[in-house]
Amino acid sequence: MKPSKTMRAKTANSVTEDEGMIYLDHNATTPVHDRVFEVMVPYLRQHFGNASSFYRIAREAKDILEQSRKNIAACIGAEHDEIVFTSGGTEADNLAIRGAARALHHKGNHIITSSIEHQAVLRTCQALEKEGYRVTYLPVGSQGVVNPDDVRCNIRSDTILISIMYANNETGVIQPVDAIGQIAREADVVFHTDAVQAVGKIPVQVDVQAVDLLSLSAHKMYGPKGTGALYVKRRTPLEPVLTGGPHEYALRAGTENIAGIVGCAAAGSLALASLAEDAQHMSRLRDRFETALMEQIEAVTINGQSAPRISNTSNVSFAGMDSESVLLHLDLRGIYASAGSACTTGSAEPSRVLLAMGLSKQEAQGALRFSFGKDNTEEDIDCVVDALVDISGILRSISSVAV
Ligand SMILES: Cc1ncc(COP(=O)(O)O)c(C=O)c1O
Repeated sequence: MKPSKTMRAKTANSVTEDEGMIYLDHNATTPVHDRVFEVMVPYLRQHFGNASSFYRIAREAKDILEQSRKNIAACIGAEHDEIVFTSGGTEADNLAIRGAARALHHKGNHIITSSIEHQAVLRTCQALEKEGYRVTYLPVGSQGVVNPDDVRCNIRSDTILISIMYANNETGVIQPVDAIGQIAREADVVFHTDAVQAVGKIPVQVDVQAVDLLSLSAHKMYGPKGTGALYVKRRTPLEPVLTGGPHEYALRAGTENIAGIVGCAAAGSLALASLAEDAQHMSRLRDRFETALMEQIEAVTINGQSAPRISNTSNVSFAGMDSESVLLHLDLRGIYASAGSACTTGSAEPSRVLLAMGLSKQEAQGALRFSFGKDNTEEDIDCVVDALVDISGILRSISSVAV
């Protein structure tokens, strides 16, 4: 069966068509929006100046850099001088966690994070443990939510940093960032949130939320790969991780990727402009998808279904099926989804996020992530459900696990 695809609107994807493909992996990455591409191109060729030089084309680069900083700041309610551009979400997480840990080492060496963080946070914390820092990895409940009381109970006199993600990349579950931020503020502990999957999908307002450091990434919101930013609330102690020239308030050395930064800011502004409309469209798709799956396929569980979720993400366990086999069958039909996060693809291990939520190894191994985008249609959803009905029939007929 070769699925057909009708574009809802030519908002983002008009040049990336693999005719007939259905792309349901927008949490892994998104295509660059047409408008974003258009605004980036001049900065690759005509306006190629180095923003640190002094002549006209350099000043133009500097001007657009500062305008982009204002634009991305406006997307999250920050001030322009609170934005540090980075090479993406991973670098923003590294700068936040390593930078704050080092800057605050004189005060203590204890960090609180959760067991469901992205590898960019988890591995950074693990690396800091090797340097002598102590890290508490908080558990989550069955719906994948960190309990703010657990955060409160684990704060000690030597706690210097709390890092809890905004929305989980595998399940879409939104964490109680406001409550955790308040707890951190009352305890005078720096609070970082990895908002890579939240910015551009749900409202994020650092000016009214108790957040000190916040990571975002352009390629999750129809911007280019290799660009992102860290919001750094004024007076938050932070040491640079990349050292060199005094770029980005001396917090991130290296000649600025002007075209990427322009693309990042444009993507953020476009996402903000259609946030409510996109969220409504995607939650309609997700509800249609989940309802149809539950009706048409036996033994299906939607992971994190009762928790608040970003509207584009559906994490589904199919009992008696192995996610890699399902993905392979979907791939053959031109349908692209994922098992767990893109960064862990290829690992035979079941998702640690789902294990942390209390799923058995087998349940976690049968889980897939479907993440919808602006251009997906109801027709796409129906087509994917039909494919999954078919595939579950095939795989379960040869599975030794009783459903
Ligand atoms: C929650 C989260 N944090 C961080 C990252 C890393 O972002 P980047 O790919 O821009 O380095 C990702 C990407 O998958 C993510 O989902």
